[in-house]
Amino acid sequence: MIAATPESCRAHAREALRRCRELAACSEAPDVTTRTFLSAPMRDVHERVSRWMRQAGMAVRIDAAGNIRGVYDADPARRGRAAASDTRRLFIGSHLDTVPNAGAFDGVLGVMLAIALIEGLAGRRYPFAIEAIGFSEEEGVRFGMPFIGSLALAGSLGATHLARTDAAGARVDDAIRTYGLDPATLDDARAPAGSLGYLEFHIEQGPVLDNQNAPLAAVDAIVGQSRLEVTFAGAANHAGTTPMDARRDAVTGAAEWIVAVEADALATAGLVATVGRVDAVPGAVNVIAGRCRATLDVRHADDDTRHAAVDRFTARAGEIAARRSLAATFETRLDQPAVPMDPHLTALLERSIAAAGMPVRRISSGAGHDAMVVAACMPAAMLFVRSPRGISHHPDEAVHEEDAAAALAAGALFLDALAESSGG
Ligand code: HGY
Ligand code: MN
Ligand code: MN
Repeated sequence: MIAATPESCRAHAREALRRCRELAACSEAPDVTTRTFLSAPMRDVHERVSRWMRQAGMAVRIDAAGNIRGVYDADPARRGRAAASDTRRLFIGSHLDTVPNAGAFDGVLGVMLAIALIEGLAGRRYPFAIEAIGFSEEEGVRFGMPFIGSLALAGSLGATHLARTDAAGARVDDAIRTYGLDPATLDDARAPAGSLGYLEFHIEQGPVLDNQNAPLAAVDAIVGQSRLEVTFAGAANHAGTTPMDARRDAVTGAAEWIVAVEADALATAGLVATVGRVDAVPGAVNVIAGRCRATLDVRHADDDTRHAAVDRFTARAGEIAARRSLAATFETRLDQPAVPMDPHLTALLERSIAAAGMPVRRISSGAGHDAMVVAACMPAAMLFVRSPRGISHHPDEAVHEEDAAAALAAGALFLDALAESSGG
């Protein structure tokens, strides 16, 4: 078998990027890329991806959480057990949902490279099955709660998750039924016990590799993240007749708190804190806002530091609210611990990056990923691909074709290394 090289993987990489751009047009709105949990354009995505998976020799299904899954069977001759019972399976995947007005590569690249990797095998098989998986929801846009797809794979999508409602009041399990799936069969979505591991290709989404002029990196850990919804409640009133010193303005209270959060995060090493959405109610130009809802996203590599920051932010909201005769309430939507990647798989990944002729880099991920959820049920590893100019969650998100080819070469070499290390 000729060892994979970035040059030999170039054509598959080009097609993988073309497919990412094709899927970017599957959107809830014209001229932008927005695709949330089991929304209508996800059907179009599933139709195209299942065709590509079948062409690559995979058996395809959509599980009860809306994950699309293509299984490339093991080599019967090198497998000790019957296919059905063989649980030594390597999962390779990422997510197919997007943030609003997204780029074409966040998540989707990982699924397209998984398919391209299997296409590149040209019928060659391993002593383990390979399952390409496109998770239905990682971003948490529709329900304010991320990782629905990977939680189902990990067997952790419970009643609380299924009862979470979106802005229209629809539950997660309602959305599953509306898509034509049955939440009662979520157990079938679980990964088999004893799975070999999970590999996720993903764009870095930050500037580190671009600044170092390095195409790839192995991820050593994914930072922890807290997501909260903060509500300031005051009193709506007439903008023209209410004196400035007689107001209980929820928006100015929230504004003072948002600036205080930013100042604290700037002064705390390694901490990032973001208020991504602010909703004023009733939201009219001539009405003092009686309520103001804000989302808060807090991340740090160390969980204690992150929790201490969240405590400071909630205490500060209480102080500001008291001084302004407002009320401040919080709802925690996510408290995701930092997750180290599997040392053995990561070492194999670094060896594979080097064998592909690329400089070896190991960095932490400031972005959350499905790998941090899947790591609860099997060894997980991530391979980052350079983000030119560090841009992501934006239409200008990009991937160099040569970097995608390098990722495929490293991925193919990783399969060989895994087969060797797992006694295949
Ligand atoms: O928010 C994140 O870190 C990821 O892009 N979902
Ligand atoms: Mn994202
Ligand atoms: Mn992502």
